[in-house]
Amino acid sequence: MVRGTGLHLAQSPGWPPDQWNLPTERVGRPIRYLPVTESTQQDVLSAAEQGAPDGLVFVTDRQTAGRGRGGNRWWAPTGCCILFSWLVRSPLPWERASWLTMAASLAVVDGIQGTVGLDVGIKWPNDVIIQGKKLGGILTETVADSSGLRLAVVGIGINVNLSEAEVPREIRGQATSLSSVLGQEVPRDTVLWEILLALDREYARMLEGHSPLLRWKARLKTLGRHVEVMVSGKRVKGVAEDVEKDGDLIVRLDDGSVMRVWAGVVQQA
Ligand code: BTN
Repeated sequence: MVRGTGLHLAQSPGWPPDQWNLPTERVGRPIRYLPVTESTQQDVLSAAEQGAPDGLVFVTDRQTAGRGRGGNRWWAPTGCCILFSWLVRSPLPWERASWLTMAASLAVVDGIQGTVGLDVGIKWPNDVIIQGKKLGGILTETVADSSGLRLAVVGIGINVNLSEAEVPREIRGQATSLSSVLGQEVPRDTVLWEILLALDREYARMLEGHSPLLRWKARLKTLGRHVEVMVSGKRVKGVAEDVEKDGDLIVRLDDGSVMRVWAGVVQQA
C-alpha cells in the first residue's frame, strides 16, 4: 500500500522519472525530465530534428505554453499532473496515424485502471473522461512527406492531484482529476509508469499490424449518444452511430442524413 493514499499500488518508482529503468522495449527509452518547459510537444519535436530515437519521452512538472487540440492551451498547475510527449519515428503508413491516438487513449485508460482501479472511458476523439468530465487529453502532431508519416509526437496530459476548485472558470464543471474522484492523493509516478508500459504494449501490437480500433471503440462513451458537433465553425446535431476504421465519427443528423466527422469538438448529452 502506498503510504497516505489508502490505495493498494505497486512499489513507487519515484520522481522525477529520468532515472527510471523502464522494462519497456521502445517507449520511454530514453526518458527525459524537465522541471519546467514551454511544451513537451515542442521539446520532442526539436529533439527529433536533432535525430532523437524512436521512443523518446519528455516529462515535465510545468508547461508555460502547453498545447491542446484545436489550437487551445493545455492548462495544468505545477507538479500535480501527468504531462508528457512521446516520439514515434517508426514508419507507419499515413492511414495508420490515427492508430497512435487510439493506442494512446487505450494506454491511459489501462494505466489508470491498472493502478487506481477507476473505470475511465474515452470521449471521441481522444478525451479521457470519468463521470462525464474530462480527466485528460491526447494531442497527436505529425510530420509527413511524400513517402508518408515521417514522425509523430503524441502528447498526453492527465489531471492527477488537482481540486476541481482550482480549475479555471471557463472549464470548471467540465474537468476533473483522479484525486477529486477518489477523494485522496494519487501517486503520479506509479500511474505514469503503468501508462508507459501500456503504451509500449500498444505500440508493439501496432507495429505488428494490429489495429487498436475495436478495443478503442469498446471504450468509447460517445456511440449511441446525442451529440452536437462543431464542424468548420458550424454546429450540427445528431446521434453518434459508429466510427470508421480510421476513427472518423459517423453522425446521423436530425434530418436523417449521415455525416462523417474527422475532427471537431463533440458535446454529448
Ligand atoms: C487536448 O486538448 O485534449 C489534448 C491535450 C494534450 C496536452 C498534453 S500535456 C503534455 C503535452 N505537451 C503539450 O503541450 N501538450 C500535450
